[in-house]
Amino acid sequence: MTKWAPNSWRNKPVRQVPDYPDKATLADVEARMATYPPLVFAGEARKLKKQLAAVAEGQAFLLQGGDCAESFAEHGADNIRDLFRVFLQMAVVLTFAASQPVVKVGRIAGQFAKPRSSDTETRDDVSLPSYRGDIINGIDFTDASRIPDPARQEMAYRQSAATLNLLRAFAQGGFANLENVHKWTMGFISNSPQGERYQALADRISESMEFMRAIGINADNHPSLRETDFYTSHEALLLGYEEALTRIDSTSGEWYATSGHMIWIGDRTRQPDHAHVEYCRGVKNPLGLKCGPSLEADELLRLIDALNPQNEAGRLTLIARFGAEKAADHLPKLVRAVEKEGRKVVWSCDPMHGNTVSLNGYKTRPFDRILQEVQTFFDVHRAEGTHPGGIHIEMTGNNVTECTGGAWAISAEDLHDRYHTHCDPRLNADQALELAFLVAELLKKDAAAHSDRKAAVG
Ligand code: TRP
Ligand code: MN
Repeated sequence: MTKWAPNSWRNKPVRQVPDYPDKATLADVEARMATYPPLVFAGEARKLKKQLAAVAEGQAFLLQGGDCAESFAEHGADNIRDLFRVFLQMAVVLTFAASQPVVKVGRIAGQFAKPRSSDTETRDDVSLPSYRGDIINGIDFTDASRIPDPARQEMAYRQSAATLNLLRAFAQGGFANLENVHKWTMGFISNSPQGERYQALADRISESMEFMRAIGINADNHPSLRETDFYTSHEALLLGYEEALTRIDSTSGEWYATSGHMIWIGDRTRQPDHAHVEYCRGVKNPLGLKCGPSLEADELLRLIDALNPQNEAGRLTLIARFGAEKAADHLPKLVRAVEKEGRKVVWSCDPMHGNTVSLNGYKTRPFDRILQEVQTFFDVHRAEGTHPGGIHIEMTGNNVTECTGGAWAISAEDLHDRYHTHCDPRLNADQALELAFLVAELLKKDAAAHSDRKAAVG
């Protein structure tokens, strides 16, 4: 393999990166950003890798989620807090059910660039370049807004820094204290079926906490009760931006992407000899790889060779996104190939991207199909004897109507009501919590099956 450098991707074929008309400004922006402080520290990325290694060994569960695309217009504290809140609720539900740590990774503080299936968008008789995320161009359907603008990269960097700052404060500063477990419920969830279920679980946690307090264990003397580790992740799509934020870690002498703790490669840009794989193979962060229906087992093994040649547990998370109908056909052969070769990976399920349909002119995702893909994911891993390591979802803390179904039975006619996404349809907070309860059931069954097996061997 040729020598890697932060810019060696530039010698490879590349897909899904924009053609900036103003190359001089682009070069200026990239040069400036290369001098900015890193957004995350290498040590944090290593800590995440260690926690993901526990997932790969079957000792923990990965919860990864957030917006499809973050937006400049909606960068408010309330949105960040609301997402963080549901995230904590889901994490509590899963931790309790699985009796295992939950590794918490947001699609946030850097999730700005979007691959598109078409280079242009046509409305009536007008064709314009497609919207590619706020880090690249604007969503408004005008000539000016759709021109890729390098200045947006600095906006994205600064927004990511501010978001990360608030997330760190929430995670470490008291908001995530388990003593607040009742306070994370949002108004519009509190009287839903999920809200009631959550209250019941929060009551049990409070009771355990009171017991522990009585015997001398409390949030003051045990930081693990009052703090949590929350990590950031995004698709490493815009490679010029990633390159500018790639730094050598002074303690290990190794290269890290400092734009976020974990980065992933999309299903559209995972060609083994192309630029995105080239960039990602050289940085030491935990990596994700989206695996869609066109991925064959031999190509997956080639990708694993390139991305995780040392077979390091926690380095690589394979994110399966086949669609509810296809998962049972595609996942088993990939799992078997990986097992046969003894490759250490985390298996995670993205039940969103393979289940997108058009209804009444809206892109949507039926909640039952999402649940069905998660169920299939667990079934396959049960059958293969492997660990269903995590889920990767698009969600928001807001009460949107973007995915149909769920406890409030959002219908095709309801979609227009609160359809706010800049890109793909997200689960609302209520649907996200409902999904967490379903996964919790599956994890409990899994744990029971394991202890049965142990007893039988016993
Ligand atoms: N520190 C533990 C963890 O992050 C326990 C914990 C504290 C927690 N606050 C939390 C778990 C909020 C879930 C949600 O897992
Ligand atoms: Mn998406």
